[in-house]
Amino acid sequence: MPDHSPLDLARRPRRLRRTPAVRALVEETVLRPQDFIAPLFVVEGKGKPEPIASMPGVFRRSITDLVKECRELAALGIPAVALFPKLDSRRKDAEGTAALHEDALVLRAVRAVKTAVPGLTVITDIALDPYTTHGHDGVLTRTGDDVDNDRTVSILTRMAVLHARAGVDFVAPSDMMDGRVGAIRRALDAAGFTHTGIVAYSAKFASAYYGPFREAVGSAKAAGTHLLGKDTYQLNPANRREALVEAALDAQEGADIVMVKPAGPYLDIIREVRNASDRPVAAYQVSGEYAQLHAAAKLGWLDLARTRHESLLAIKRAGADMILTYFAKDMAVALRG
Ligand code: PBG
Repeated sequence: MPDHSPLDLARRPRRLRRTPAVRALVEETVLRPQDFIAPLFVVEGKGKPEPIASMPGVFRRSITDLVKECRELAALGIPAVALFPKLDSRRKDAEGTAALHEDALVLRAVRAVKTAVPGLTVITDIALDPYTTHGHDGVLTRTGDDVDNDRTVSILTRMAVLHARAGVDFVAPSDMMDGRVGAIRRALDAAGFTHTGIVAYSAKFASAYYGPFREAVGSAKAAGTHLLGKDTYQLNPANRREALVEAALDAQEGADIVMVKPAGPYLDIIREVRNASDRPVAAYQVSGEYAQLHAAAKLGWLDLARTRHESLLAIKRAGADMILTYFAKDMAVALRG
């Protein structure tokens, strides 16, 4: 005889958690290799992959090595990569003119990857930060105290057409200038690239989590600080309504996919955009999110494999249809079991 009578409960949710089999049946979110987009860094030359101190396991790669990595990613079921060039500082100037060179590093990288692994979707960033000495995403106004919106947009539209010509599947404007998605869409269409898509960094916040990335592409060094202020164009982390406005504008202007960035600290934004938009939603688990898990794991304070999985599961559960993450390859390997 039990020494107590059972509680009179209409519902006992724990019945659905009793066994692994039942838990599997009621599982709502499942991660697959196809959910991930791998961001990759490319440099000139034929050197060995260069490690990035604050991003263990992430490298700046020569084009040859980049192609090799892309083959491996595709074989593991990763459907897409996002390419970021790191330029030698001597190639940078205040206007970011190297962004419009016909033979720019990123364009050669795109051609090499698309030739070697045609089925892999290639996405490139449209913004001037890898190319400017000041590290901003656009060109500055005459007084030098702000980024000139419209002049930047006209450069970015030309940049997007060059990328389309090199064969990218999607251009990803990450600059947060007003009106750039519409301008890029019109320029692509006028140049005959109606099939080239736009992944808009729509809700991109002025985040301190981009620090390691800025080391990786050298924009922090160019600017003399990891904490480069981009507050006049990137969103205030305090604001949610504004993120929805940006996502709606980008969709109206022709974005095929809208993005939220960073991801983990902005799950509420991912959910709001998912609910408000009929576009697929991408989320970018940025360099600082990656770095913090690695740092804690190195100290023995967190389990890397489990927190990695959980961090990405949370982003998908929040509503992301696809996730840019430096963990893409590790996840694809882990999910294969
Ligand atoms: C710049 C750009 C940034 C990232 C992607 N594109 C950084 C920035 O805005 O300074 C950050 C990605 C990351 O931190 O992983 N256009």
